[in-house]
Amino acid sequence: MSLDTNRRSFLKGAAVGAAFMPSFSILHAEDATIGPKDDQINVALIGFGAEARVLSASLVRIPGVRVRAVCDIWKFQCQQAKQFFKNYGMQITTYEDYREMLDKEDKNIDAVVVATPDWMHCEHTCYCLRKGKHVYCEKEMSNQLELAAEMCRVQKETGKLLQIGHQRRSNPRYRHCFENVVPNMLGRVTTAYAQWNRTLAPFFAVKRPPKQEILTKYGYENPEQYLNWRWFYKYGGGSMVDLGSHQIDLFIWAWGVPPSSVTAIGGKDAFTPRRQAYDRVMCLYEFQMPDGTKNEAYYQVISSNARGGFYEQFMGVNASLTIAEISARGNTVQRELRAGGLSDADWQKFIDKGWILPSEGDKIKKEVTKDIAVDTRISAQATGNALGVSMNKPAHMPHLENFFAACRHGAKLNCPAELAYESAVAVLAANVSADSHKTHYFKPEDFKVPPRKA
Ligand SMILES: NC(=O)c1ccc[n+]([C@@H]2O[C@H](COP(=O)([O-])OP(=O)(O)OC[C@H]3O[C@@H](n4cnc5c(N)ncnc54)[C@H](O)[C@@H]3O)[C@@H](O)[C@H]2O)c1
Repeated sequence: MSLDTNRRSFLKGAAVGAAFMPSFSILHAEDATIGPKDDQINVALIGFGAEARVLSASLVRIPGVRVRAVCDIWKFQCQQAKQFFKNYGMQITTYEDYREMLDKEDKNIDAVVVATPDWMHCEHTCYCLRKGKHVYCEKEMSNQLELAAEMCRVQKETGKLLQIGHQRRSNPRYRHCFENVVPNMLGRVTTAYAQWNRTLAPFFAVKRPPKQEILTKYGYENPEQYLNWRWFYKYGGGSMVDLGSHQIDLFIWAWGVPPSSVTAIGGKDAFTPRRQAYDRVMCLYEFQMPDGTKNEAYYQVISSNARGGFYEQFMGVNASLTIAEISARGNTVQRELRAGGLSDADWQKFIDKGWILPSEGDKIKKEVTKDIAVDTRISAQATGNALGVSMNKPAHMPHLENFFAACRHGAKLNCPAELAYESAVAVLAANVSADSHKTHYFKPEDFKVPPRKA
């Protein structure tokens, strides 16, 4: 169906309406529809690399979303995109230059998905917003704070929607945790821990990368940097920004405030010296709470050993939550077995509400073996119960659905630009702290988007 005037004006008003609409509820997350099927949203993508393919696998499953055009500076990716969408009955036009795509396809496109390397997010997003398009842009907003701030400013000026791709913000499992489990089951959460450990991997290389003249035209110094942009500060922010951006955002979500300081150390020598960015970072964030208390989060990202993989933990005086985007890696709430803590009856109430599933028995794990007896009275642990909410969709799908629901009928975005800006401030500062070997202290105003410099 082609765009009719009413729908166009509705889409234009969506950003304004968003502020007055109820928030996305976890209880309806699984069946969240994004509008009648004939109310088609026409989409373009900028960048068709690894992440765009992941997003596309969700885009083609969302009713009423039609991909019309793809831009990528690498011809190979354009060909791949054509074939991919053809398999789903979508005929797309491909472009090398995003401006040409936006100019030629202006009338055919309502929204754009930006999945280019971090350093291009601001340029691509702002151009699309100014062209009157709603934008879903991948995280990290940018590898430079000023560019992330500019994205927020342009979003405000244009009134268009800008969702940033911190997809856990729409994941019903995570929403359940931060709406129900953390505030109501854990007691005071003094401590959080998260890690993303990966094994040593060589630089990406391909036989036929784009020609150097194309790379030079678009600012990439050579094929190695183009393919491995995450490891060079011009284009990305290393593993801290790549992976930490997902998990530091969760600390902020859980505690409802941005951090007050970060102290980080980093190592760079697990790989060849050609990589600029830290391949491992360990850092401590402090969170000054509005009631005067202070909480701490420890984060580590390692690219030289995959031990333990990736997950997040929130440790309260009454219980702990362990969660990961892949539920097999983390999906449990564990009661603290302490005098004055939650009783069996208290715990049963959470099961009755469906927040956690019944377990084999909330029993103390025996830590005494035949050979050695250890006094575990204080460190004894309950077995834990699985979360009562699951998700049976691709990881990015609910976040895209939330974006299209906002485009169509004014649903509230789960990760609007100003929210993602807070986590960009927190994440980018970890590299600054590691570089300087100094604690980086935040002022509350650091998390507010500053006005454009004259
Ligand atoms: N949300 C997540 O879970 C998640 C996971 C992975 C990556 N990401 C994010 O997605 C983005 C892309 O990452 P990726 O892993 O797909 O990288 P990638 O290198 O695989 O793909 C990037 C693509 O962008 C294209 N490109 C580069 N500059 C361009 C330009 N000026 N115009 C048009 N196309 C251009 C490249 O040719 C390439 O095809 C990054 O911001 C990354 O942080 C998010």
